[in-house]
Amino acid sequence: MSKKHPLVKKVLIDSDQIKKRTKELASQISEYYRSQNINDNTVLLVGLLKGCIPFMAEFMNNFDYECDTDYMVMSSYQGGTKADGNPKIVLDLNSNLKGRHILILEDVIDSGLTLDFVKRYFYNRQAADVKIVTLIDKPMKRKVDLQPDWSGFEIGDEFLIGFGLDYQERLRNLPYVASCDVSKLKDWKW
Ligand code: IMP
Ligand code: MG
Repeated sequence: MSKKHPLVKKVLIDSDQIKKRTKELASQISEYYRSQNINDNTVLLVGLLKGCIPFMAEFMNNFDYECDTDYMVMSSYQGGTKADGNPKIVLDLNSNLKGRHILILEDVIDSGLTLDFVKRYFYNRQAADVKIVTLIDKPMKRKVDLQPDWSGFEIGDEFLIGFGLDYQERLRNLPYVASCDVSKLKDWKW
């Protein structure tokens, strides 16, 4: 998609910025894990589908530490632009988490409810350590006390689309992160 999508209000982070920042994060985080004393020297990367895909792919290409990967599907948005505040596991992990060092990869943290739930859930399954990296953080929107350990970009109160972020499951394939022109959504037809 080289032309700007009509639902884009403004491109906030372009593809070069995403690549550069993700590379920095991956190298910082690799270094962090190298400084820890970890069983098997292996971290479990857990991607929260479906939004994590472009970020996680970019991150993994630059992550220089032993890892295995797993994925989880959570639902918090019911297709609209607001979280319903009641995260549910739609698809669970297969991995045994006992004693594992886990790095969760997320596209965006908004209320924090999803990750707060997931983090507790991993500790209940006896993970040794749970860290979070998110491409985007919206700290203003927080409803619970949940902070990412690393974040790529901070953004205010905007509904975002692109680079994994969806509106009605679409637009995840835009190669940039943009604010959505929400004034068009009421009468929007795909
Ligand atoms: P939270 O539980 O409110 O932190 O929301 C987390 C989830 O809501 C993210 O994983 C996204 O899937 C979704 N989300 C939050 N903000 C946005 C946005 O601006 N655009 C699209 N999805 C979003
Ligand atoms: Mg998500």
